[in-house]
Amino acid sequence: MAEAHDRPAEQFKLRLRRYDPESGQAPYWDEHTVELEPHRSVLEAVLQAKDRFDGSIGIRCSCRQAICGSCGVRVNGEPALACHTHLDAAKAGAPEGVIEIEPMGNMPVIKDLIVDMDAVHWKKIQRVTPWLLAKEPVPEREYIVSKDSMVDVTQTMACIQCGACVSDCLSMEVDPGFIGPAALAKAYRFVGDPRDAQHFERLNDLAQDPQGIFDCTHCFKCVQACPKDVNPMGQIMRLRRIATADHHIVDQNNGKRHEDSLTTLVRDYGLLHEAELVPRSYGGNSWFGKFHPAAGKELLSSLPTVIKGVLRGKLSPTKAIFGHRIPKDDLKAVQSIYDKVESRPERYELNLYVAGEDEGAGAPAVAASEGASSAPGPEGATSAQPITTEEAGGGSSYGQDDATASQN
Ligand code: SF4
Ligand code: SF4
Ligand code: FES
Repeated sequence: MAEAHDRPAEQFKLRLRRYDPESGQAPYWDEHTVELEPHRSVLEAVLQAKDRFDGSIGIRCSCRQAICGSCGVRVNGEPALACHTHLDAAKAGAPEGVIEIEPMGNMPVIKDLIVDMDAVHWKKIQRVTPWLLAKEPVPEREYIVSKDSMVDVTQTMACIQCGACVSDCLSMEVDPGFIGPAALAKAYRFVGDPRDAQHFERLNDLAQDPQGIFDCTHCFKCVQACPKDVNPMGQIMRLRRIATADHHIVDQNNGKRHEDSLTTLVRDYGLLHEAELVPRSYGGNSWFGKFHPAAGKELLSSLPTVIKGVLRGKLSPTKAIFGHRIPKDDLKAVQSIYDKVESRPERYELNLYVAGEDEGAGAPAVAASEGASSAPGPEGATSAQPITTEEAGGGSSYGQDDATASQN
């Protein structure tokens, strides 16, 4: 059987989204047919079209091996690194076999496939103070940290700043001011770092900001988009948990109270009782919560949505008022999960991202951090296979008892 790399060159049709804001012309589609082996990348195809047919095609690239993060685009509507997307795979997912390549979303286009990362992505990264605010006294030589304490931040250190998550973030589409997945993942990189002195200040800042950690709608798009399994949404959830559970930060955006209400409603009803969510967020676990002035205002503003839901049959008035009812045994089963989790003396956290070899025990192990201040939860493990420390870009230092941590 022929190896993937031995297959002969074949023709691939490309549809490129072209746009030059300075020209005054509207964006348009441009088609070219290139000839390459199927294992070659979409980036190579665009570069061939640029080389052979139209030198004015704009695309940014550098390493060509999924390291520098320069070549982020949309392939067939999905965010991708052009250099990390094989032509045969792209063709298989293309409507009518024509590979569509567009610039990333949520960022202004500079030209064709090149977006302005400075205007959005890097501005947001700067917003989260992306450097270590070191504990005093600063040691004369390097900081020495235990390998376990760096396990969680290794995942965020794998970020190559490609902007794919930013491109696909639904919250940013609605609210461009949202700090966004890449920058918040970067924030976790320092909140999870034991050498940083300002965990509380960082968390309080991100929690109180109306466009901070509570502005994420938990849609998973950034998790799917990320080519490096950074799991930005998981990092945002970790930031929330540490802010609320460990630092007891109550934010002005009602984020913590909203989460608390959701949790208690599912415990009480077995399912979410939507109509009670806003009153309980403002007025606590009390029937009188509905009469809290802020809750009343919120309820009034959501009335048009509620009416629409009822008219379209998505919501029944009975369920809106009395909530969902599930069989008693099912409700008991749900509540027993709460009892089990809440009876634990401390939070148990498992990071499934980094797997290493415990040389002492001589057996491969999934690294876990118990009682650490990060909690990936089910959304924390996004890799189909946990990756090794070497692959994680965390360096081989994790194989030693203590590691000198870098500040990536
Ligand atoms: S999960 Fe949150 S940060 Fe990620 S894409 Fe959705 S809204 Fe954006
Ligand atoms: S988190 Fe992932 S998708 Fe987002 S910028 Fe970093 S590597 Fe790219
Ligand atoms: S060219 Fe560097 S990631 Fe694609």
